[in-house]
Amino acid sequence: MTQDIANTLYEMDNLEVLRGINSNSIDLIATDPPFNTKRNRSGSAGFYVDKWKYGDTDKLPDQWKWNEVHPKWLETIQDGHPALYQVIEATKVVRDEDTAAFLCFISVRLLEMHRILKDTGSIYLHCDHNANAYIRLVMDAIFGKKNFRNEIVWRKYGGHKNTAKLKFTTENDTLLFYSVSNTYTFNQIFRPLSEQTIKSEYKHVDENGRRYSIPRGRKYRQGVVKKVYLDTHPGVAIGNLWTEKELTMQGKDDERTGSPDQKPLALYERIIEASSNEGDIVLDPFCGCATTIIAANNLNRRWIGIDRRKDARYHIITRLMGIDRKERERLEKYTTNKAWLDRQMQPYEMHYRTDPPTRTDNQETAVVKLESVFPITEDFQMTRKEIKNVLLEEFGPYCWGCNFEAPDPRYLELDHINPKSGQDDYGKHHINNRALLCKPCNLEKSDRMTLQGLRKINKEKGYMKEGTLIDLRKASEWTWQYLVKRIQETPYQYNLFRK
Ligand SMILES: C[S@@+](CC[C@H](N)C(=O)[O-])C[C@H]1O[C@@H](n2cnc3c(N)ncnc32)[C@H](O)[C@@H]1O
Ligand SMILES: [Zn+2]
Repeated sequence: MTQDIANTLYEMDNLEVLRGINSNSIDLIATDPPFNTKRNRSGSAGFYVDKWKYGDTDKLPDQWKWNEVHPKWLETIQDGHPALYQVIEATKVVRDEDTAAFLCFISVRLLEMHRILKDTGSIYLHCDHNANAYIRLVMDAIFGKKNFRNEIVWRKYGGHKNTAKLKFTTENDTLLFYSVSNTYTFNQIFRPLSEQTIKSEYKHVDENGRRYSIPRGRKYRQGVVKKVYLDTHPGVAIGNLWTEKELTMQGKDDERTGSPDQKPLALYERIIEASSNEGDIVLDPFCGCATTIIAANNLNRRWIGIDRRKDARYHIITRLMGIDRKERERLEKYTTNKAWLDRQMQPYEMHYRTDPPTRTDNQETAVVKLESVFPITEDFQMTRKEIKNVLLEEFGPYCWGCNFEAPDPRYLELDHINPKSGQDDYGKHHINNRALLCKPCNLEKSDRMTLQGLRKINKEKGYMKEGTLIDLRKASEWTWQYLVKRIQETPYQYNLFRK
């Protein structure tokens, strides 16, 4: 079933919205997330902050702290995406904890973005020099290194002051372009041949005034002169250096909204033209003052925008209205005036929401019982530590793979019974899909094998210890009952359960 969410602005945290979007439903994501700049942002469009913390407050700086990383994010990454986890750990050591915290913030969102993109889809992630190398590793871990397409170097300024006296001035941002698979949408873009090439190569003019060249070597082979007309030449395919002045904000005073992070329309139009077709859905989960949205609209694409800043709707509307800068300034008093915004929105086919969408695709990948019976919210999840303690208490200090009796709990690690269940959701990490394994068993099993498979190998190789193994069917029944009990004790969860 498809979701009817095209041309919608969600004014809220993007993580919740991304989680509510169906898998395989978005054609292109072009986005410019907040960077780890460690400074406050302000501008005439109003003070806002790129803060994401759980239980967020307003007006905090664009800064990330390791001790504020939601433990559930980290567990999701640690359990389901070991390569990504290592990138974050390495960043902690090589750079600093704040950057690692920023990577956690962006990673949980990128995992969702990867899930909701179609196989033919692509993503362009706008990065500055602070984090781009680290984000590139994150992207390799999530999208796969074989799906890396380009690092686009975008020259930010038409001209600039050299203020960096002891190093070179930074003149570019980087856009990381990844696809989901190798069958992605791509429309090559050409720029016209240079004056010089035209003069030196297309030096002939025929009786109708058309310029042409005679390619070398062909003239005599065929016995006839072969002409290549300039007006049939597609131009030169553009590369990854995007340095044209037209792609900067320079001289674009009418386009300016007053927001310090605003990116030029022409830049995002180029991305959208290259990596989507008319009618496609373009998503920007950090849409700010709506550059991606307006670019998509200009090119007859459908769009979804998400931003938690309160003036996002004002920007979309005033830009859709195509009003000039003076008029925009006059209307700034309506930035957050709900009645005015509701009224102005009417002529446009757009929707505005402050609650997340609900997925309508089947989520069968999940651990069956959990997902088909009721949703479990992130808040409800038990921590790894809690789960380990409950399992130790109920089943004793034994490895579920080889029956090894651990001298103390540190010898046992928490693993998944079914490694492939529920790749995309939290069900995978619940207690009824968990087992305790000794280190050698955990290494052997990795995420390729089921627990039964591991037991078989242990028996064959003679690693199985004496005594009765834990009965997996009974254990799963017990952990399931335990989970239900816990849910019933949590009123919010229980209400979802009864619905
Ligand atoms: C760099 S700006 C985007 C500017 C945009 N490219 C433009 O040209 O208008 C980043 C935006 O991300 C938003 N943002 C930061 N954290 C967010 C979150 N967790 N959910 C939704 N939006 C968020 C900020 O409010 C800000 O508007
Ligand atoms: Zn073992």
